[in-house]
Amino acid sequence: MKIVKHPNKILSAKAKTISQEVIKTPVFRQLVLDMAEMMLKSDGAGLAAPQIGKSLQLAVINTKEGVLALVNPKITKKSLTREWGEEGCLSVPGYFGEVKRYKKVTCEYFNAQGEKKKIKAEGLLARVIQHELDHLNGILFIAKARNIKKIDQAKR
Ligand code: CO
Repeated sequence: MKIVKHPNKILSAKAKTISQEVIKTPVFRQLVLDMAEMMLKSDGAGLAAPQIGKSLQLAVINTKEGVLALVNPKITKKSLTREWGEEGCLSVPGYFGEVKRYKKVTCEYFNAQGEKKKIKAEGLLARVIQHELDHLNGILFIAKARNIKKIDQAKR
């Protein structure tokens, strides 16, 4: 498993909805585990399936309570207020920029077991959810960011 880097067509495509039959398969379970491992190993806040070359509505997010897997996620509520915050992306290594995101969002999704779930998030978690859902819609943060800067990775 390798992380797909920008520019790549798969990163700008809308990812496909995952059926309940597919969620029940061992192959899918393994994909979720592999993505979680890849995210943790790469020190990412989240990872969306298109970033590993799979056009599927699946993302994993690193939270204080553990890895959150989002299958077919949708934002069903958002706050009126938005705030700027710095973001980076494993698919755009070395680049950071400020993106305006909703402060609070409610996200409905299925977990890795196929159960319908809902999460109310704010702050950083809300930001990561919006970043990952953008990936599932073929949008990279650099399309929305201001003050984009490149960090020379050789010097880090
Ligand atoms: Co990203």
